Amino acid sequence: MVPLKRRKTNSRSAGSDDVAVTKFPHVIIFIIERKMGASRKSFLTGLGRRKGFRVEECYSQSVTHVVSENNSGEEVQDWLDAQTPGGGRTGVPAHQLDISWFTESMAAGHPVDIQDRHRLRVRMEPSSGATVTTVKGYACQRRTPLQHHNTLLTDALLVLAENAEFCENEGRSVAFRRAGSVLKALPQAVRKMEDLQGLPCLGGHSQRVIKEILEDGKSREVEMMLQSKQYQAMKALTSIFGVGVKTAERWFREGLQRHTDVVNSGYKLNHTQQAGVQYYDDLNTPVTKAEADAIGQIVEEAVQAVLPGAEITLTGGFRRDKLTGHDVDFLITHPEEGKEEGLMPKVVSWLEARGLLLYQKTNTNSYLESTDGPARPSHNMDRFERCFSIFRLERPHARPEQHPQATCEEQPQDDDSARERRASQSPGWKAVRVDLVVTPVSQFAFALLGWTGSQLFERDLRRWAGQEKHMSLSSHALYDSKQNRYLRASSEEEIFAHLGLEFIPPAERNA
Ligand code: UTP
Ligand code: MN
Repeated sequence: MVPLKRRKTNSRSAGSDDVAVTKFPHVIIFIIERKMGASRKSFLTGLGRRKGFRVEECYSQSVTHVVSENNSGEEVQDWLDAQTPGGGRTGVPAHQLDISWFTESMAAGHPVDIQDRHRLRVRMEPSSGATVTTVKGYACQRRTPLQHHNTLLTDALLVLAENAEFCENEGRSVAFRRAGSVLKALPQAVRKMEDLQGLPCLGGHSQRVIKEILEDGKSREVEMMLQSKQYQAMKALTSIFGVGVKTAERWFREGLQRHTDVVNSGYKLNHTQQAGVQYYDDLNTPVTKAEADAIGQIVEEAVQAVLPGAEITLTGGFRRDKLTGHDVDFLITHPEEGKEEGLMPKVVSWLEARGLLLYQKTNTNSYLESTDGPARPSHNMDRFERCFSIFRLERPHARPEQHPQATCEEQPQDDDSARERRASQSPGWKAVRVDLVVTPVSQFAFALLGWTGSQLFERDLRRWAGQEKHMSLSSHALYDSKQNRYLRASSEEEIFAHLGLEFIPPAERNA
């Protein structure tokens, strides 16, 4: 065992006066020694660290900025390919930059925006007959429609992503989702491996699976996964409202496989899980747009009754023009800042008094700009006043129908007996998951952007903000670390503009 102190010094060979504090956590630099020599690399590494940059000794997949001197794009690409044998990166490719970007950033004291002149050029020579499409590396830079041309491939990648999630390997799961998302943005179906040339985010594993499907029509790995007891049980157990991967995994190890096993087990369930098993069939039947609209009318009535002038907006998948969803998401605000305070409990009481809620759990608003803003890492959880609920929707609006447009991503396994059981259990109404979120009007645009999704689109927006713009984006605000101030916005368009992105309308955010 190496003593801690020595280990620390060893891991950073560039001098003891290096500063450990990283001022720009989203920028992870690696300097290529080739043609530069070890002593210059060591000098530049030390310089970068003293200025608060994170400069890595070794190349890894987490590196975001690769810097070299007197190397061509091809030379750097060859060097990088040699570092990741068997398929290359699974995430977004690192920027390949000339030393000028590094020296300018040192002079400025922060990472300067990447200009074209900083980038190394890589020549692409597609083999004849391949359809070469350029696809940008971040999902928020691309248009991703709901309907696309590669469902066979994306369905398979989704199974691998889900399985990685069941194994609590988030990085792997996101990598498969990214690969699938790139295929969703293609204007045509992939027919041969050459069609993938130049596309970002396709790691070796994803490429192997795609190749197998292109050649044999299916992937053995995916087929086996779909057949596996563990995958099936994890899928069934995590589809119970209130049950996450950890609980499902424990239950599976204890021999449970379906939601009915959970009911029969006699295990003590929390309030949420009790609702989850009680309304299991309904909650696993896709919510239709007609049902979402019917719930919208009820929410509108409730909100107007307790605070006239308040406004509700349908967000989530339905705002992206999806025809079905797993729940219905609403944002509630009032044009006068502050008027929205304390609104949620009143809305909930109004709904409860009319017997419209089968379940609800309300969180209070805990967001404070002064403490929650720039210092916090930007991640998914936001701090709005929020109500997770299950509505009791009268049946006329909730006719069980088949939806041909629904992809397998949204369509739970169903059969006649399940449908009959459902109909006999709850003939007059359907249980529907609804998320209500109250936002001050000053944060509305950020909340709307954050809650419209898709999840991968949101993830890449936040990553783009951090890595490319040195900003921090959440569902509450946008903070600019270079100017040390918040950037205000009253529309989604303004937020895209602040981020230097082309505006992507909701229907094309189905990444
Ligand atoms: P959903 O999980 O409801 O997804 O979250 P969806 O796109 O509407 O799809 P279905 O049809 O319901 O399955 C909607 C958006 O809200 C954000 C997510 O990032 C997602 O993009 N969200 C969700 C949050 O910001 N915070 C949360 O706690 C939950
Ligand atoms: Mn939703």
